[in-house]
Amino acid sequence: MLNQIKEKALKEIAQAKDLKQLEQIYRQYLGRKGELTMILRSLKDLSDKERKEKGQLANQAKSEIDEVIKVKRQKLSGQAGLARKKDWIDVSAPGFQPPEGYPHPISLVQRQVEEIFQSIGFSVVDGPEIENEYYNFDALNIPKDHPARDLWDTFWLKDIDRLLRTHTSPMQARYMEENQPPLRIIVPGRCFRHEATDASHDVQFYQVEGLMVGQDVSMSHFKGIVEEFLKQFFGPEVKMRLRPGYFPFTEPSFEVDAKREKGDWLELMGAGMVHQNVFKAVGYPLRKWQGFAFGVGLDRLAMVKYKIDDIRLFYSGDLRFLKQF
Ligand code: FA5
Repeated sequence: MLNQIKEKALKEIAQAKDLKQLEQIYRQYLGRKGELTMILRSLKDLSDKERKEKGQLANQAKSEIDEVIKVKRQKLSGQAGLARKKDWIDVSAPGFQPPEGYPHPISLVQRQVEEIFQSIGFSVVDGPEIENEYYNFDALNIPKDHPARDLWDTFWLKDIDRLLRTHTSPMQARYMEENQPPLRIIVPGRCFRHEATDASHDVQFYQVEGLMVGQDVSMSHFKGIVEEFLKQFFGPEVKMRLRPGYFPFTEPSFEVDAKREKGDWLELMGAGMVHQNVFKAVGYPLRKWQGFAFGVGLDRLAMVKYKIDDIRLFYSGDLRFLKQF
């Protein structure tokens, strides 16, 4: 009879599907009025000999059932934990990878441009986005009331006599005031213009100013360096063209275009040989130095490289666009 009870109990334990069923089985066999408990209690009415024999068997059965229930309880607790995912922590599970940030395409392009110019001996310099009239215009040979000021549609900051720089060229004057040639710098940074936006113009955009000044820096240095830069940036097959242009702070002046995949040309930069009036403004002796300067649009470089048709996408904050880089 004891054996039958034990076998029945073990079978039921094996079949138990959850903790509730298991506790019921415990009560049925080992609880206060459980089948095995009652047998153990009845031992006292037996003779010494019988009590000894039966007692031993009953106690063995009890501890066996007890042990099997314990093991099963552990197993079912684990499963219950899994079901309660919310407050269950599995310390052995692989870690959760938090979403990672990634650089904006303009930042990517800025880094590449900096690396290329650094590799040919240029230093990277930073300048203020809020400028004064002197550096944005006067020092660059654009006197007050001169029509050339209208080349740049300016955001003026009321009351504080400042403006949002319309180009990175003010840093030419700021840097040369503090440093003597020979010098080679690039100045990446944000510029602002109060103009109507279209597919290749925005009210904010990035430029990289370049400036190289020395005793005999010539047009051919400019052409060689810009060609080398564009080849490293776009690849050896890049097609560029130089057009005559006009800037008050360079003489002669040019515009440089790159050919897009669809066949048209996109203007990348304005450039030229630094005007002697700029050297004069920063206190260099006249005709002692010569050099070239350029201002290349980072957005335009990114548009040609990544085949983007509309500049406004860069500032749209649209993650579907930004996540592609
Ligand atoms: C200038 O800003 C001159 N400071 C460039 C320069 C520097 C000439 C040194 C000579 C010597 P420009 O206005 O053309 O020039 O602008 C230069 C480049 O900036 C353009 O070729 C274009 O790539 C970019 N750019 C200008 N305006 C915008 C705009 N609204 N949106 C996006 N890119 C622009």
